[in-house]
Amino acid sequence: MMKAAIFTKYGPADVLEVKDTPTPPFKDNEVLVRIHATTVTPVDCSFRAGDPCIVRLYLGLLRPKKTVLGGELAGIVTTVGKDVTRFSIGDQVFAAPADGTGAHAEFICLPDDGAVVPIPTNMSLQQAATICNGGLTALPFLRDHGKIKRGDRVLIIGASGSIGTVAVQLAKHFGAHVTGVCRAAKHELVTSLGADRVIDYTVRAYTTERDAYDIVFDTVNKSSFAAVKPCLKKNGVYLVTAPSIATLGRMAWSTIFGGKQAIMAATGLRPAKDQAADMRMLKNMFEAGTLRTIIDRTYPLSQIAAAHAYVETAHKTGNVVILVEGQ
Ligand SMILES: NC(=O)c1ccc[n+]([C@@H]2O[C@H](COP(=O)([O-])OP(=O)(O)OC[C@H]3O[C@@H](n4cnc5c(N)ncnc54)[C@H](OP(=O)(O)O)[C@@H]3O)[C@@H](O)[C@H]2O)c1
Repeated sequence: MMKAAIFTKYGPADVLEVKDTPTPPFKDNEVLVRIHATTVTPVDCSFRAGDPCIVRLYLGLLRPKKTVLGGELAGIVTTVGKDVTRFSIGDQVFAAPADGTGAHAEFICLPDDGAVVPIPTNMSLQQAATICNGGLTALPFLRDHGKIKRGDRVLIIGASGSIGTVAVQLAKHFGAHVTGVCRAAKHELVTSLGADRVIDYTVRAYTTERDAYDIVFDTVNKSSFAAVKPCLKKNGVYLVTAPSIATLGRMAWSTIFGGKQAIMAATGLRPAKDQAADMRMLKNMFEAGTLRTIIDRTYPLSQIAAAHAYVETAHKTGNVVILVEGQ
């Protein structure tokens, strides 16, 4: 048996219960990982609440079919299936489970060819648990969808969040001029991550400049294409992490007619081999000191409902970590 945070109905944070549940059986091509740390993200909160309703198409219409949340983790391989070739018992790994769930538990089974990679040599398990949500979202958005290049002017909305803190660092790494949007209290942090300019959205609109940005990346979905369009350069790209009718309409429009683009992508649903390749790239960047992770708060698994409530304030800084082992 193992402890896990279980939810059997959609609802507020207190639907979560930490209780004993069977340890998952593993297949010949899987490793069993004892989870040391995981995170709570807005995706977990959205899944737990069943809101927006579209998540219920994925998790279950009336009640969740997957009862353990958690989309990223770091831990130690404790058992290997007979067909496993890449890992050995005792390896310290970080991972993104294929279906974006299952990490809020003491153990998880992961396929040998999944999004599972040894942790960076200069990071703790607690730090490594935070790599995937921000890294596997910001990297494909900026590189693959934004086609970011040296000299681009990039606006990052939500620059102090999990995705935003990585996006600022990656955009600088790719040679862009970066403007971060967040409250004044977080300007020092976002500047320390490399932002050239910061805008406090509570005192100044960030969309007033004309033809100013090659890329506007709204990591927290607080803007709209209509509001952002004037500040995009000709052929500029507006990136958002959640779908809306307006964004999807503009995606279709710009595919046919060109011009300023809006792009929403489900980066979490990419093939595991692509994710693993990016995780190795991110690992190298952490080891080289090009990236650092920001941890706001740490909670034991027993207090995961409090972690959900905090993440739902929408004002966390970087990542909220759940310590599973040794709590
Ligand atoms: N497309 C995909 O595949 C994918 C993958 C992962 C996540 N997502 C989506 O990404 C979003 C979450 O991103 P995240 O994990 O980075 O969120 P997060 O860490 O919870 O973001 C928190 C940050 O948002 C900032 N913020 C709040 N209101 C703001 C506003 N009006 N303007 C600018 N910044 C504001 C806060 O800064 P202040 O305190 O300064 O306000 C805070 O630091 C969710 O919608 C999730 O569904 C999508």
